[in-house]
Parts: sequence; C-alpha cells; structure tokens
Amino acid sequence: MLEEILLFVGIGTVVLMAFRAYVQGARCKSKVTLHGKTVVITGSNTGIGRATAVDLARRGARVVLACRSQVRGEVAAALVKRESGSQNVLFMQLDLASLKSVRSFAETFLRTEERLDILINNAGVYMQGTTEDGHGLMFGVNHLGHFLLTNLLLDRLKQCAPSRIVTVSSVLHAYGDLDFDTLRTHKEFGVGESLASIFRIYSHSKLCNVLFTHELAKKLQGTNVTCYSLHPGAVKTDLDRNMNKLTRQLLKPFTALFFKDVEAGAQTTLYCALQEGIESLSGRYFSNCGVQNVKAKARDDALARKLWEISETLSGLC
Ligand SMILES: NC(=O)c1ccc[n+]([C@@H]2O[C@H](COP(=O)([O-])OP(=O)(O)OC[C@H]3O[C@@H](n4cnc5c(N)ncnc54)[C@H](OP(=O)(O)O)[C@@H]3O)[C@@H](O)[C@H]2O)c1
Ligand SMILES: *[C@@H]1O[C@H](CO)[C@@H](O)[C@H](O)[C@H]1NC(C)=O
Repeated sequence: MLEEILLFVGIGTVVLMAFRAYVQGARCKSKVTLHGKTVVITGSNTGIGRATAVDLARRGARVVLACRSQVRGEVAAALVKRESGSQNVLFMQLDLASLKSVRSFAETFLRTEERLDILINNAGVYMQGTTEDGHGLMFGVNHLGHFLLTNLLLDRLKQCAPSRIVTVSSVLHAYGDLDFDTLRTHKEFGVGESLASIFRIYSHSKLCNVLFTHELAKKLQGTNVTCYSLHPGAVKTDLDRNMNKLTRQLLKPFTALFFKDVEAGAQTTLYCALQEGIESLSGRYFSNCGVQNVKAKARDDALARKLWEISETLSGLC
C-alpha cells in the first residue's frame, strides 16, 4: 500500500514537473552581453518588467527602471541589483498616465544619460480609469504614453543604432477593434465598467501596440533602429490587481498550474531585445520566442497610419 502511494506521488510529481516545464515555454537563447549599453524598461518595479530588468542587468547593461512610484521603483532597483549582482541599475520617475510626466522623464533622461540602446515599452494596466489628460487609462498608459515616450527618445536611439524598441502587447490584441468615432467622443476606445467592457478596451489598447510597431518600423527604415511587439504568454503577475479578492483567490490554483512564472514570461521580450539576426523582422509581432502572423487588422497600413496621426494629435507631439 505504502509503495503504491509513493509510486503514485512520484509519477504525479514527474508529470506535474513536465507539465510546468511545458507551460514555461521557449527561452531566449541569445548569449549577447550588453556592457556599455543602456536600456530603459517601463513599469519595471514588478512582474514581467522586473524579471526583464534582472536579466539585462546580468548581461552588463545599464538598466533604467522607469516607474511611476518612487518608493516601489527604488525598492525594485535594490532588488534588481541584488538579484543580478550589478550595481548599474537606477530608478527614474515616469507616470505614463500623465503626458507631462512622460515629457519630463524624457527631458531628464536625455540630459543625464548618454546612450539609449534598447527601449522596452512594458508597463500596462488592465482597469478602467482616466489619465491626467482625460484619456481612457488603458488607451493612455498602454498606448499613448508609450507612443509619446518612444517619439521623444527616437533621436537618441538613432544615434546609438543598431538599437531596438520592444513593445509588450498581448494575444488579446486579436479581440481589439479601433473605433475612432468612440475615441473622438470619449477619448478612449470605449466606455463601461463591466468585465466585458474592460476586456474589450484592454484588447483595443493592445491592438494599438501592434499597429504602432507596424507603422514605427516603416518610419525607421534605413536607420538601423528596429522594433517589435510581442505576447509574453499568460504570466502570473499582479495585472489582475483590480479584480475582486474572491475571483483572484478562485483563479489561484488555475494560474499556479497554467500560467508562466515571471522569469519565463520575460523570455519573448528578451528575445526581441537581444536575438541576433531578427532585424529583417522589424515591425512584426512575436510570441513564445518566435515571429507570429497576425490578423489583417493588426497589419493594416491605413489603420496603423491613422492611429499614428491621431496619437500625434492626442499626445501633443504635433
Ligand atoms: N501577465 C500576463 O499574463 C500578460 C499577458 C499579456 C500581456 N501582458 C502585458 O505585459 C506587460 C507587463 O504586465 P505584467 O503582467 O507584468 O503586469 P504587472 O505585474 O501589473 O506590471 C505592470 C507594470 O506597469 C506599471 N504601470 C502601471 N501603470 C503605470 C503608469 N501609469 N506609469 C508607469 N507604469 C505603470 C505598474 O506599476 P505599479 O506597480 O506602480 O502599478 C507595473 O510596474 C503589460 O503591458 C501587460 O499588458 C501581460
Ligand atoms: C546600418 O548598419 C549597416 C551595417 O552595419 C551599416 O553599413 C550602415 O551604414 C548603417 N546605417 C545607418 C544609417 O547607420
């Protein structure tokens, strides 16, 4: 009897471990080191962003944690230093829900830092709300703030070429749909507090990430600055922090089994930031450390151009 139980537990453990290994997905195999290079990662005080920061710091990069909270940002900088064994990590304040804050971050960064080799647009929210400028929170933080930030840092990226811009999107972009009429009336791609509306508006903002990257690649042709968007996988993070406690508690066993750890969740971001030889895939969308095809609406030239123009106006870029 005891032997049978032990055998059962043993087999169960092996099966579970094999399944977890499968869930963690592909890994970035690049051995590239980044001594003398500077990386900016938005929303890097926790989750996928912080795991990305640890890896890049280990490779020798100077890592700037661009986060909204000074306290959380400085705590994270200490943690990234400890985990990576590198002291070349610093926090700089950036609130993507404020265009003024984005401008002030860019100004400080350009004044105090000499290089920018990799920009990682990672921060994201999955909740309703309004930015300081009156835009929908998900549209404002996930897309518009990053749009302005990227444009303000573009000349420095060009000077440091070959350089890269990596934007963390989501597979949910496939459910997005850009209704510019709604944007005109509500300054966000939709309204409503229901679970379905939040899902929809988040998906719109993630479609913006893919289309932004599509258009950006065209604008960057011939500069040796390349750009990529990606899905990190389903990852155990606090992205669902706005959901009620009970739902989160009920989801826990499910996420423990089926979701990636943050370290595994950072792999596709790292792949886009580091992998040699993917430059010809600039503008494309990646998942599980490989390029993926997207629906027609996520590579629609006219739609991407229109989003770019509207974003220029709404962000005050011109
Ligand atoms: N987790 C997943 O399964 C999954 C799947 C697909 C895509 N993604 C995408 O992956 C990215 C990283 O998300 P995550 O899962 O790591 O979530 P997370 O743990 O919630 O981290 C999100 C980060 O964004 C920051 N952030 C939020 N609002 C900000 C603002 N206004 N200004 C600056 N930073 C802000 C957060 O800072 P605070 O700590 O101050 O709030 C946090 O550092 C997001 O773009 C998300 O959409 C995640
Ligand atoms: C881009 O890189 C190639 C190969 O290193 C180089 O020959 C070319 O001059 C670069 N172009 C620019 C605009 O920097």
